[in-house]
Amino acid sequence: IRVAVLFGGRSGEHEVSCQSAAGIVTHLDRTRYAVQPVRITADGQWAAGPQDLPAGGYDAGELARLTPPRGGAPWDSLLDTLPDLGGADLVLPALHGPDGEDGTVQGLLQLLRVPYVGNGVLSSAAGMDKEMTKRLLASAGLPVADGVVLRGDRADLTAAERARLGLPVFVKPARAGSSLGVTRVERWADLPAALAVARVFDDKVLVEEAVAGREVDVAVLEHPDGAVQAGPPLEIRVRGGQPFFDYDAKYQDGATRFEVPARLPEGVDERLRELALRVFETLDCTGLLRIDFFLRGGTEPVVNEVNTFPGFTATSQYPRIWAATGMLYGELLDVLIATALA
Ligand code: DAL
Ligand code: MG
Repeated sequence: IRVAVLFGGRSGEHEVSCQSAAGIVTHLDRTRYAVQPVRITADGQWAAGPQDLPAGGYDAGELARLTPPRGGAPWDSLLDTLPDLGGADLVLPALHGPDGEDGTVQGLLQLLRVPYVGNGVLSSAAGMDKEMTKRLLASAGLPVADGVVLRGDRADLTAAERARLGLPVFVKPARAGSSLGVTRVERWADLPAALAVARVFDDKVLVEEAVAGREVDVAVLEHPDGAVQAGPPLEIRVRGGQPFFDYDAKYQDGATRFEVPARLPEGVDERLRELALRVFETLDCTGLLRIDFFLRGGTEPVVNEVNTFPGFTATSQYPRIWAATGMLYGELLDVLIATALA
């Protein structure tokens, strides 16, 4: 089976995607798969690597050396790469953030008629946009945090909105990942600065109530027979000194500890898994999804956000959750691929 692993991309999560891809090409079983890395540079150039990348332990830096030919129109390098993508038996889009995890690349793969791992156009687009995720989940009766969307150049909340959300609030770009551009605001005077930070990533900004409580992730995996499984909840414990599970806490060694399965009060584990499966269904997901929750007051799950292609570094939550059930990283990839080809 010839697998093209697509990674990098124009989003702020470019580096994270390189790390995810390094984990994936390291763990894909070479007795089953011929592996071809395909890189999208941070400025949107495409470059296909060797069609039979040897087995070995890869890191993000090695993959990032894959360089496209210089010059030409923006689409030249994409056109050069299409035969590698379209000719693969399957594409694994290991992309995070806009222009990768948001349905754009999924649409291209669909037009090429090549099977691909994970979520399709609609679920990817809906999952990348925190406003739309919230609307869809709320309309299905699923618990989400209260929030206000600031579009265009709208730069403030009304007095009624401030009163409703209370302090602190979280200010987030509507379409970004890995907490890029996210600020916790404790005083309304700090709102304009936080908005400016968020707007570096997206014109559309979400101001959300802060849900006080433990942070717990649930992984959902679709099997080739169509069965959809929710894994054991994983608790995120951010070390002292980190304001929340921000970019540094996510990717700095030792800044965060995960506990899986999380030690939860009676009934909460089952409730989280049941809600995660309903989120997967509501957003029309396929293949995989990671749902990030807060436990309001320690017991009441609230969906914070979803990730239609969650982080896949060897230490990321998604592979860690399945490893805790005895499914090793390579076996998890086997399931994702078999499901995409089923
Ligand atoms: N968006 C990052 C990769 C994550 O949620 O894992
Ligand atoms: Mg995310």
